[in-house]
Amino acid sequence: MRRVEIDNPQSSWNPSLLLPGVKPAYSTAFGAAYLGDSLSVMRRLPSNSVRAVITSPPYALHFKKEYGNVDKDAYVEWFLPFAKEIKRILVEDGSFVLNVGGSYNPGIPTRSLYHFKLLIALCDEVGFHLAQECFWYNPAKLPAPAEWVNVRRIRIKDSVEYIWWLSPSPWPFANNRNVLVPYSQDMRRLIKNGFRATKRPSGHNITAKFGKDRGGAIPANLIEDDVPSNLIDRGNNESNSEYIKYCKECGAKVHPARFPAALPQFFIKLLTARNEVVLDPFAGSNTTGWVAETLERYWISIEVEKEYVTNSALRFGLNLQAEHDQ
Ligand SMILES: C[S@@+](CC[C@H](N)C(=O)[O-])C[C@H]1O[C@@H](n2cnc3c(N)ncnc32)[C@H](O)[C@@H]1O
Repeated sequence: MRRVEIDNPQSSWNPSLLLPGVKPAYSTAFGAAYLGDSLSVMRRLPSNSVRAVITSPPYALHFKKEYGNVDKDAYVEWFLPFAKEIKRILVEDGSFVLNVGGSYNPGIPTRSLYHFKLLIALCDEVGFHLAQECFWYNPAKLPAPAEWVNVRRIRIKDSVEYIWWLSPSPWPFANNRNVLVPYSQDMRRLIKNGFRATKRPSGHNITAKFGKDRGGAIPANLIEDDVPSNLIDRGNNESNSEYIKYCKECGAKVHPARFPAALPQFFIKLLTARNEVVLDPFAGSNTTGWVAETLERYWISIEVEKEYVTNSALRFGLNLQAEHDQ
């Protein structure tokens, strides 16, 4: 199995130093993975110690997934204590990137508002600011609920998930130059041929500066995981298929609800600098930690299910099960 080899320039420091006395399940050059309830573990983290929290908690679904989704009506109440800890441990200009899926109300063809209610509570009750709402475009989602989409044909396929980008302050650190995408053909032509200042029908003045080559286009707030041309540097996006391969090799269970590596990759590049700390308190297969490692950010991941933590170590070439059996 391939090991992730990173030459860590500051190897004397590791994020496990932020949690003295708490033993990680495993650690790497840049990160530490903890087994446990993230509320308890986060309570032990110092205030203002984390640059970005990037996470996807269990969604509120009206059917129970195997890793224990919380009921929609109780979701906001359940989540707020986690959110308060996240706000405390983030630096003032840090970011909280929260991926949540939408869902239908049980028995009727209308959508639940739980993720909007959550967003409002995060801002009004916890004090976060909404920097921007983003979306994960996931065309691989199955058409569901079958009754409304496939049988009665009265609803269409749902292909996006919500990503709330929040911050303790209105001014989270961000640099969109780090996530530029290739220019469109039209824009490349325009850069080559030059651009004359003009006024759009909307009334906007477009100056000649618009035609300047700035190394790439500013990306949209839509994260895609299967369109090769979306992100300029998509190297890490293979990590999920490698994780599945390693799990199969070891007879280990693959996590059933991973997000694509493109998601943490995009936000880590946009919102953090090298050697800053990224936390995923609902880590699952530790996609966030793996991407952070490859981008040379320090990372902490917390996951409550032992099997998921054990299997996530396979991403880093660490077979905890084999070490335990010896
Ligand atoms: C949607 S999954 C995250 C998947 C992850 N983004 C990935 O790419 O693999 C949510 C995870 O949160 C974990 N979880 C639920 N409650 C938790 C808690 N209180 N503390 C830590 N982890 C928790 C679940 O076991 C599950 O693995």
